[in-house]
Amino acid sequence: MTASTPSVHRTIVLVGLMGAGKSSIGRRLAARLGVAFVDADAEIEEAAGCKIPEFFERYGEPAFRDGERRVIARLLDAPPRVMATGGGAFIDPKTRALIQDKAVSVWLRAELDILVKRCARRKHRPLLHKGDPREILGNLMAERYPVYEHADIIVDSEDGPHEGVVKKILSALTARRDGEAAPERTGAAG
Ligand code: S3P
Repeated sequence: MTASTPSVHRTIVLVGLMGAGKSSIGRRLAARLGVAFVDADAEIEEAAGCKIPEFFERYGEPAFRDGERRVIARLLDAPPRVMATGGGAFIDPKTRALIQDKAVSVWLRAELDILVKRCARRKHRPLLHKGDPREILGNLMAERYPVYEHADIIVDSEDGPHEGVVKKILSALTARRDGEAAPERTGAAG
């Protein structure tokens, strides 16, 4: 950590569509902040004892959202850290309310071409198995982007090294802390 590194008072929750870079950017961000990183999807798999595609197939999406909410609620009760969430977590109204209550949310906003390119590299996403991934992701953008807009911080996740995105998140966190501290400073001086 350097002098300009913001301190972490609340868990920082990364939200955004599949392929936005939540896990890889989250890991780097946690390292820069000197806190732990947790991946909510990995924790769901651990708790369920099976992989996410298998969970969707056996129990369906509504059961997945319930399990996801329970796991995220538990993870938010631990000391502050960085958490990556699955793309649908912040869209579920109850999970979103939990995150808004207990964490600082960061939306990694990305363009369709970037999402399609990144998602093509891996095949573990059940929602993309239902048809053409570009069309599905385009529809999810239309549905979900107006909801992700409610995140505390919005950062564009561009193509290129993730370090640039990490830097933007760090500056936004610092600006936010400065904003939060301003009234206290005014109060103390007056
Ligand atoms: C989902 C995204 C996935 C995973 C599940 C559902 C979604 O996580 O939680 O397949 O609804 O967008 P990633 O966003 O990490 O791929």
